[in-house]
Amino acid sequence: MTTKRGKFLTLEGVDGAGKSTHVQWLVDTLRNKGIEVLSTREPGGTPIGEKLRELLLHEPMGLECETLMMFAARAEHLRTVIEPALSTGIWVVCDRFTDATFAYQGGGRELGYDRVETLEKWLHPDLQPDRTWLFDVPLTVARERLNRTREQDRFEKMADAFFQRTREVYLARANAHPTRMICVDSTQSIDNIRKDLELDIAQIIDAAATQ
Ligand code: TMP
Repeated sequence: MTTKRGKFLTLEGVDGAGKSTHVQWLVDTLRNKGIEVLSTREPGGTPIGEKLRELLLHEPMGLECETLMMFAARAEHLRTVIEPALSTGIWVVCDRFTDATFAYQGGGRELGYDRVETLEKWLHPDLQPDRTWLFDVPLTVARERLNRTREQDRFEKMADAFFQRTREVYLARANAHPTRMICVDSTQSIDNIRKDLELDIAQIIDAAATQ
């Protein structure tokens, strides 16, 4: 009997959009339904990736270096964590993936999409998430939530125009990939958001069972 490939589920959104509130809940919900799940994040998820994360979040660097380091961390993550899990039937919940590079580096930092696409085609030509939940809030809400949290990292300190561009790219990608990406109105209450997520998870599980 061949092992069914696991599902690859990602969460996205600008800083302060509230996605982190739901990661563990999503993992627990899937586990309660009997699914084996690995929870991970980007940048990070491997010993090298976590070291790169520290640099990425706190050291000043140029846009080329930043983009390549995001993909360097991702390459290691894919090779040692994500692919081995998916290919043995384990589901992967990943807090951010390549959509974040399109939105933050491509849009926020105005690198454009061509180079991000080139790196994506090199490093994971055949892999896209099976589902991406995009947590969306207006800039004012994101800012207000961020101001309430711990000390801000390099990305969180960026100007409003950066956040606006990043959000716009995320929304454009959700429009361009309507079957993969679901836009979650993250100004709603946590309970309402989870009701919608739970329905979506049930559909994903049903679809996986019939594949
Ligand atoms: P986190 O705070 O959601 O863990 O994400 C860390 C930061 O890294 C966040 O500000 C977004 C940023 N980031 C990028 O700029 N590009 C990427 O490709 C990824 C994965 C994250």
